[in-house]
Amino acid sequence: MFEPLPGFRDFYPEECRRRDHIFRHWRQWARRHDFEAYDIPTLESRELLTRKSGEEIVSQLFHFEDQGGRAVALRPEITTSLARMIGARANSLKRPIKWYTIAENFRYERQQKGRLRSHYQFNADIFGEPGEEADAEIIALLLESLRGFGLSPDDIVLRLSDRVLWSLFLESLGIEGETALEVLAIADKMERMPREALEEKLTPYFNEATEEFIATVEGLRSRRGIEELESTLLALMPSTPLRERVAARTSQWNELLRSLRALGVGDFIRIDPGIVRGLAYYTGFVFEVFSVDEKGEPSGRALAGGGRFDGLVERLGYAAMPAVGFGMGDVVLADCLAEKDLLPPLVDAPDFFCVVGGDEERRLALEDAGRLRRDGFRVRYPLKATGFGKQFKQAGQSGARMALIYGSDEAASGSVRLRDLRSGEEAVVPRSRLFSVIHRSLEDPETLHHLNQDHDQK
Ligand code: HAM
Repeated sequence: MFEPLPGFRDFYPEECRRRDHIFRHWRQWARRHDFEAYDIPTLESRELLTRKSGEEIVSQLFHFEDQGGRAVALRPEITTSLARMIGARANSLKRPIKWYTIAENFRYERQQKGRLRSHYQFNADIFGEPGEEADAEIIALLLESLRGFGLSPDDIVLRLSDRVLWSLFLESLGIEGETALEVLAIADKMERMPREALEEKLTPYFNEATEEFIATVEGLRSRRGIEELESTLLALMPSTPLRERVAARTSQWNELLRSLRALGVGDFIRIDPGIVRGLAYYTGFVFEVFSVDEKGEPSGRALAGGGRFDGLVERLGYAAMPAVGFGMGDVVLADCLAEKDLLPPLVDAPDFFCVVGGDEERRLALEDAGRLRRDGFRVRYPLKATGFGKQFKQAGQSGARMALIYGSDEAASGSVRLRDLRSGEEAVVPRSRLFSVIHRSLEDPETLHHLNQDHDQK
């Protein structure tokens, strides 16, 4: 007996319906925000993924050597491959480049609630636009697509932070470059790390000033307004050039917040310097979306995360290209929608169910089923002969709108009996008029009723 590997899921039709519902929404919102679809290979060069994404993802790679001796890996995320695609055609692509994809990702994680080894992600990214308008466009798509599922600012929050301000703060402490990235990777886990472990991780960078650093960061993390954050940072910084850079950044923050309010998603935003993001390539505004608990506080795992990553294309060896984007996972999202009772019952029903008598009637039913299918309808008929009673029961359970009944009387008179499976209304219709009656009854559910009355009056 075999089961799926740990962290992988089988999708029976019911789960497929739920997944397709989520995908449909994602696609719809991407299109409404004017993003184009693209796709990337599932298998990538291991080197591309290990050099460019950041340590955490690298330790989670599913990797192996292929038969040609190449070191390959299943994609753990989309972004690095996307940067490769964009870099390769940077000159010919029309800007702004606004692309989206829905793709399966693989990460060898410890399996737990909200974390699997395979998950689907909705990714949307904008390349070629360095300004906050692009960040606003990305964040608006992320939040509108979540609102589209019925989630309101009472249900979810987007925690918005900034790697530029984080970097300026670290620079004021003399920490820059690779070392700053290492400290940011630790800061990203601060929320979830026990104090002792945190001190141990930070001591190599701050020695006896470690406690003071943690206290300062805790103060910064609790700031919820941009002016408040700015004044706290300015108070920490003696150097004028750094202070000027903080002030310049504050005005970019204000631009971004203005656009987000104008786009109608301001109520979802919470300024929250506690967000750093685990991936090394982020360079500017960063954000994560969480569901909120009864106290209005973010809880559980992030539904989505993203930010600006202006250096990635260049680091892959191409001309520099600014970029901003997000990834939203299906696992945490589906859990959140289920908890909030926002997953509608998803029926997958045929339009018509043919109830057939003997062999001759079956031939007639198959002819009509074929024509109806070519006309765009979804038609079901029993694949083997059974009694009428059983077929009527199956027709009722199928959720079909109408039963098309092919009995010997109907066959002899060249007609079909139509039964509206909701109202129970029936009418006998010549096969030659089947299509026009069907089309009419889709526009007007009373059609069979009227046909019956006409018949009674004759
Ligand atoms: P990420 O934060 O690693 O970002 O993943 C984005 C979302 O995917 C997470 O918030 C979570 O919902 C979901 N996710 C990630 N790992 C798992 C897992 N093991 N099981 C279930 N769900 C998971 C990125 O991947 C970036 N590449 C996003 C991005 C796009 N940044 C810029 N553009």
